Amino acid sequence: MQTQLKAVTPDSIAQAAALLKEGEVVAIPTETVYGLAANALSDEAVKKIFAAKGRPQDNPLISHISDLSMLPLIAGEVPEAALRLAEAFWPGPLTIILPRGGQVADSVCAGLDTASVRMPSHPDARAVIAACGFPLAAPSANLSGKPSPTTAQDVMADMDGRIPLILDGGACEVGVESTVVSLAGDHPVLLRPGRVTKEDLERVLGVPVELSGAIVSRLKEGEVARSPGMKYKHYAPKAEVVIVKGTFDAYKAYVRAHAQEGDFCLCYEGEQTQLAPVPCVAYGAEGDGVSQAHALFSALRELDAEGARRAFARWENDACGVELAVYNRLLRAAAFRVEEA
Ligand code: TXA
Ligand code: MG
Repeated sequence: MQTQLKAVTPDSIAQAAALLKEGEVVAIPTETVYGLAANALSDEAVKKIFAAKGRPQDNPLISHISDLSMLPLIAGEVPEAALRLAEAFWPGPLTIILPRGGQVADSVCAGLDTASVRMPSHPDARAVIAACGFPLAAPSANLSGKPSPTTAQDVMADMDGRIPLILDGGACEVGVESTVVSLAGDHPVLLRPGRVTKEDLERVLGVPVELSGAIVSRLKEGEVARSPGMKYKHYAPKAEVVIVKGTFDAYKAYVRAHAQEGDFCLCYEGEQTQLAPVPCVAYGAEGDGVSQAHALFSALRELDAEGARRAFARWENDACGVELAVYNRLLRAAAFRVEEA
């Protein structure tokens, strides 16, 4: 299959919508990461997403809506708390898990009795959904296990020959996937951290939000993932990533002692000269989760482009706020390898 890469224009949006109506898969920009979209109400269309990504069938997909009127197609029951979150954070990088509604395709929910939904803030994403007139199921547009794509070129690197069309809407602003919160149980649970933080959710809900244990620790043998995506190794570049925890001076000493040919530092902006001669890829500013999130996945892809064999990722404090989202992705990229500096 020939994969076309097109800048977003009224014509390319119309072409994307026409393909999606025919049951095809199209990659679209969102504010978080690029998505691999198909009609969320069609099992046949959604199966093509799993095939293009090489995604395990038991990992459910998020349905994307452009308007609240589409919500009842996905969710069977919409509690008041969900409406409050929607009011506060939609359109935007928050996914809400709710009891499943009747029209969403079985393969989107992967056999669960819940469904996940978000309204993206990226105007191009909403324009495509609105032009279709139905919700779009869309996982991140990477091959399963790879870092999520934050540019159309990243999508092309993984999806060339696998899908007919990629819409290029520029670099994604947020850079990590949406926050996932479940409102399907008796209390809210944060399943995946993102730009919308635990504290943001608690402020709006007025009740504590439980942090799923899978966010910062590896699932134990036999433990069931509440969010199936959490059980897979994820976001991994080809390089072996090792998180090195400690102050900058301790990190620098660790790198000096351990770096060999092919090793890189995954450090913060401005630290490169102090780490020379070890080559560096920087991901955002120290203490600034927003800039780290924006840069992380492109930094992981850059390590591959540089041919890195191993990368020492710098981390200092306990992660909270948006940094929790960054640390969660880094841990998975590192397959939970953490060294004290
Ligand atoms: O920012 C995002 O959310 C991006 C863009 C494209 O919108 N999408 C995305 O989708 O990250 P994906 O499929 O890569 O990640 C969805 C995550 C997975 O970890 C999946 O297991 C979880 O959400 N998930 C989806 N539906 C769920 C459900 N009903 N119950 C529990 N977890 C669910
Ligand atoms: Mg993904």
